[in-house]
Amino acid sequence: MAKTLAPVVSVHLVDQKSSLKSATTANVQLNDVPTKFSVLQQKPDAAAAPVPPLTGDVRVVTAAEYKQAAACLAEAFAEDDVARYFIDVPDRSHWSEQEKWDLHVEILEYVTYAHILKGLVTTIGDFEAVALWMPPGQNMDDFLTILRSGMWRLNYRLSAEGKRRFFTEFLPLLHDTKHATLGEADDESWYLVYIGTRPSGRGKGHARKLIEHVTKQADREGRPVYLESSNEANPPIYRKFGFETKRTVHLQRAEKNVQLDIMVRDPVGEEKK
Ligand SMILES: CC(C)(COP(=O)(O)OP(=O)(O)OC[C@H]1O[C@@H](n2cnc3c(N)ncnc32)[C@H](O)[C@@H]1OP(=O)(O)O)[C@@H](O)C(=O)NCCC(=O)NCCS
Repeated sequence: MAKTLAPVVSVHLVDQKSSLKSATTANVQLNDVPTKFSVLQQKPDAAAAPVPPLTGDVRVVTAAEYKQAAACLAEAFAEDDVARYFIDVPDRSHWSEQEKWDLHVEILEYVTYAHILKGLVTTIGDFEAVALWMPPGQNMDDFLTILRSGMWRLNYRLSAEGKRRFFTEFLPLLHDTKHATLGEADDESWYLVYIGTRPSGRGKGHARKLIEHVTKQADREGRPVYLESSNEANPPIYRKFGFETKRTVHLQRAEKNVQLDIMVRDPVGEEKK
C-alpha cells in the first residue's frame, strides 16, 4: 500500500503516571507499525517490577504461556458483564457467538501479554486460576507495550460502539476513579487488574493464594491494594482479604446497569505509605 494511503490508526495511549486503564489518544500511521508483528517474538521488559517472594503453589506466568493464562481468564470471565460490555454491542448484533468468543479471548490475550511485559502475571496449577497485577508505579500504557502486546489491534477488532465504550468511557472512567480514590497513593499501590479461577477450580483456595501472595508483600511495603470488582458476588469474597468498598461506578452505554465496586485494601501491620 502506498504510504500516503495508509489508514490512520487511533491508538490510545496512557500518560506515564497513570494506571492501566486510562487513555489519551494519539494518531499513528499504520506504516509505523511493525509488519512482522508477533507477540511471541517479544521479550518481557527487563525493567519489570520485582516479583514478591513466591508462596505456596503460586508461580509466575512466562511470555511463552500467555495464551494458556488468557484462556483461563476467558473462561472465568465468560459471562462477566464488563468483559462483555465491549463485545455485546448493537453494531455487532450480526456476529455469531463464536466470533464474539474469539474477540473475548483475543482481548484477554493482549491484556495478559501486556501484564507479562510490564506487570506481574501469576497462576496456580495447570492455569486453574490467574491473576494480573500492576505493581506500584508501573503501567502498561506506554506506546511500546501497546504495540508489543497487540493492544493496538483493538482499534480494528472492536466495533465503533465497542471502541466508544472501551476507549471513551471505560478507560477514562477507571483511570479517573482510581486516581480520585487513591489520591497521592495512586502510584504507590498494587493494582489487582484481573483475577479469575476456572469454574472447575473454584472454591479450592486458588484466588486466596494468588491474592495473599501480593497482599503480604503490600503489607511488608505498607502499600494499599486496589481493585475494581465487576461482579456483585465478589465484594463479600474480597472483604475476606481485607478489601473495603470505597465507591461504585457505572458504565452507562448498555441497556442494563453495569456496576463496578471500587475496593481498596489498606496495609496491615505497617505504617501506611
Ligand atoms: C471470584 C473468584 C476469583 C474466586 O476464586 P476461587 O479460587 O474460587 O476463590 P477461593 O477458593 O480462593 O475462595 C476465596 C474465599 O472466598 C470464598 N468464596 C469463594 N467463592 C465464593 C462464593 N461463590 N460465595 C461465597 N464465598 C465464596 C471462599 O470461601 C474463600 O473464603 P475462605 O478462604 O475464608 O474460606 C472466582 O469465583 C471467579 O473467577 N469468578 C469469576 C471471575 C470474577 O468475577 N473475577 C473477579 C472479578 S472482580
